Amino acid sequence: MALPNLWGLYNLRSSPFFQATLRADSQATPLRLFVGRQRERQLLLTTIGSSASSRQAVAGRPGIGKTTLVQTVKADAQAGGYWSSDEIIPISAEGASEHLLGQLLSGVYDAVLANCPTAAGPEVEAAQQLVRSIRLRGGGLTLSATPPGALLLDGPRVLRDLLRYAIGHGARGIVLHLNNLESLSEADASRAADLLRGIRDQALLHDGLHLIVVGSRSVFRNPLVLEPLELGDVEQLLANRYAALQLDPLRAWRSPLESAVVQRLYALFRGDLRGMLKALEDGITALLGFTSAGADVAPVGLEDLLLTLRQRNQAELREQLGDTAWERLVAWARVDSASSQTQAQLVELWQVRQPTVSKTLQQMIEAGAVEALPRRGREAIQYLMTGTVRLAL
Ligand SMILES: Nc1ncnc2c1ncn2[C@@H]1O[C@H](COP(=O)(O)OP(=O)(O)OP(=O)(O)O)[C@@H](O)[C@H]1O
Ligand SMILES: [Mg+2]
Repeated sequence: MALPNLWGLYNLRSSPFFQATLRADSQATPLRLFVGRQRERQLLLTTIGSSASSRQAVAGRPGIGKTTLVQTVKADAQAGGYWSSDEIIPISAEGASEHLLGQLLSGVYDAVLANCPTAAGPEVEAAQQLVRSIRLRGGGLTLSATPPGALLLDGPRVLRDLLRYAIGHGARGIVLHLNNLESLSEADASRAADLLRGIRDQALLHDGLHLIVVGSRSVFRNPLVLEPLELGDVEQLLANRYAALQLDPLRAWRSPLESAVVQRLYALFRGDLRGMLKALEDGITALLGFTSAGADVAPVGLEDLLLTLRQRNQAELREQLGDTAWERLVAWARVDSASSQTQAQLVELWQVRQPTVSKTLQQMIEAGAVEALPRRGREAIQYLMTGTVRLAL
């Protein structure tokens, strides 16, 4: 049974607060909804354009818009004569460098076919064979049945030839988007970065290859670190979504929110767009649940939304974290829910030993309750409550 479309109350086809990354190949979350970040977009594009091959990294806190930015830059590059595919290549910490090499080759191969469906010739066939065997084996050539090192031996040459083929057929180069898996732990992320550095000389320096790697931890020197979108851009982001989802073309869409709501959540989430969108979706869905279809609804106000989210998030987090960890969050919030804390400070505050602090924090991070800020130099890592918790407390 289909649920009634509550968003229709605002003349919207579906939820304007979806949290998915924007991508060129998606009808539901198209790239034309992109706002702001003109400087970063230009910077990434200029680096691609200024040499025969390039490697760039984009970093930034969870949910800030890293993956979406790179998808947009890829589309920009494509408009400028580069070849690329819509695919986002996930980097993982498992497997060996061989696995990663296989993923790169697959990515380049897909980009060639996407831009030149009639591609043929020895370079393309050699690549096709390797890519097929990689895919048959479900990823890297890591199974025991595979001659060890086959890909490491042939891969770099096949990759180089395929890149030459692309350039010979009119590509200015090939742009690949490597993405960290969202939930990679610190240790896994650093292992993934090591893997990537490990194949640098054999595979990453070929002419024509341009990589953009997204990760919370820097893989290459001088990553582009994203700052939060400005409030005006976030308001524009929402307005674009309302306009794109307009249900009845003869009537204007209506904002489901009072503008004070956006301002307040913006401050609470400090740039975490995913978290903020999820809070809006959860809160408004819960509030609209009490509204009968066809009723004349007003935009949701700040007090109602905060109250709903407080109850909801509190119940969810308590259940997820258990009473002990929950009480520790409450103690932290009593100091100041916007304050950042180091492990040493939490030892004091919670009156438990350091290993317990470390374990509790890990649990909180996994539950999306806490985030670790990127380490600055030799300073201790600072921990911060996410907007989701701040809404609950
Ligand atoms: N510049 C932008 N314009 C419009 N929407 C954006 C923009 N940046 C991000 N978004 C939206 O914000 C949400 C989060 O974006 P995205 O998935 O790119 O974040 P992320 O930094 O990659 O997150 P994570 O750290 O979880 O990987 C998505 O719903 C996306 O559509
Ligand atoms: Mg992402």
